[in-house]
Amino acid sequence: MKFLLVEDNPVEVKLVEAAFRRHPASESITLETTGDLQTGLELIQSSGPFDLILLDLTLPDSSGIETFRHVYKAAPETAVIVATGTDDEKLALEAMHLGAQDYLVKGRFDLPTLLRVCRYAVERKKNELEIKAANAAMARHERVLTETLESLKKSNEELKATRLQLIQAAKLEVVGRLAAGVAHEVKNPLAMLRMGVDYFLKENRFINKTDTFMLDSMDEAIRRADSVIKEMLDFSSLQKLEMQAGDLNELVKRSLLLMKHELDRRHIDIQLDFDANLPAVYMDKNRLEQVLINLLTNAVHAMRENPKLILRTIACPVEQTGFRVGHRKGDYFQVGETVALLEVHDNGAGIDPEHCEKIYDPFFTTKLNQGGTGLGLSIVKSIMEMHRGFIRIANRPEGGGVTAALILKLNEQVPHV
Ligand SMILES: Nc1ncnc2c1ncn2[C@@H]1O[C@H](COP(=O)(O)OP(=O)(O)OP(=O)(O)O)[C@@H](O)[C@H]1O
Ligand SMILES: [Mg+2]
Repeated sequence: MKFLLVEDNPVEVKLVEAAFRRHPASESITLETTGDLQTGLELIQSSGPFDLILLDLTLPDSSGIETFRHVYKAAPETAVIVATGTDDEKLALEAMHLGAQDYLVKGRFDLPTLLRVCRYAVERKKNELEIKAANAAMARHERVLTETLESLKKSNEELKATRLQLIQAAKLEVVGRLAAGVAHEVKNPLAMLRMGVDYFLKENRFINKTDTFMLDSMDEAIRRADSVIKEMLDFSSLQKLEMQAGDLNELVKRSLLLMKHELDRRHIDIQLDFDANLPAVYMDKNRLEQVLINLLTNAVHAMRENPKLILRTIACPVEQTGFRVGHRKGDYFQVGETVALLEVHDNGAGIDPEHCEKIYDPFFTTKLNQGGTGLGLSIVKSIMEMHRGFIRIANRPEGGGVTAALILKLNEQVPHV
């Protein structure tokens, strides 16, 4: 046991020394003594930590409660017993309030009392430190628990999202197969109808206005049914892709060219924001072109006043785990992997939040009266899946319009056999 006595009165010092000498375990007690605070603090630094400090509050270089404050600050883990003069119990109690273990009033204690007070002080301090450590450990555990809970919550949400996406994928597959079946069945009767209408038109058998009107309407209806069938077949025959390295910027330019007539007619302002150093992308050029044309068509349909499209390409790392991103089996991207990002921003009417979940559903359309079939985005989605990439469509946060983002694999990231 290492004790420190800070006391300037030699009589008191003698008294304490005598008390410790009498102690049955005096062999194992070392007692250092000093008469002023400054040396006391230095001893705490150089020979500490002490098990116990006996501290006279009235010293040549410090007096009152400040004396205790200094010592307690220097040795917060040591039991401190303060000694005060007679009639200064108020000061003693204040010291205890601030962390002293006990107090002695000079001249009012005998040696056994001193020893007992010392022993209890050391034990109490030890208990106090243990409780403090236990509390800190408990707080740490609580923090870890909260963090674990948070991360569990997050994984749970990710899982939910993945599950939804998987259901969606399964739904698409079933619809794809169904569509293929229906399309084949309907193709032949449609061809018959077409032939019939052509026949009557060519023969010019009908001359009155109502007849021609009826015939034209039938012709238009067949044309429409035909295009739906074609899209359905497209949709269900997506398995065969011709993947190769391709220039995404070039592809965007080519798609715009294909749409030029429509874009010019509607006076659409187009801003290109291309990453000139974009690495080659892993793609089926024709299919990806189809994706772009679908997105551009949707954007064009949604815009009214001052229509403006911004097309942006950039290579950037994937930042977060999420759907298709992470270390799970079946994930397309690793966190940190560089991908090609293509964004199509429009300033159109945006998507009704209630529809956001449904836009990829086959046959979901809000343009039934304008000839929409609702197959566009479901095809886009399938094509993106085949590319081991994905699409995100969301309303622009800064108000007005939609951003459609395609995330695609770089060719160099795909293992080629
Ligand atoms: N850029 C956009 N702005 C606003 N709404 C959009 C946008 N893109 C898609 N939508 C909404 O999503 C729906 C589904 O789009 P999708 O392309 O699948 O079908 P469609 O355009 O209606 O028909 P089509 O089969 O001819 O493409 C649209 O009807 C529309 O309500
Ligand atoms: Mg569309």
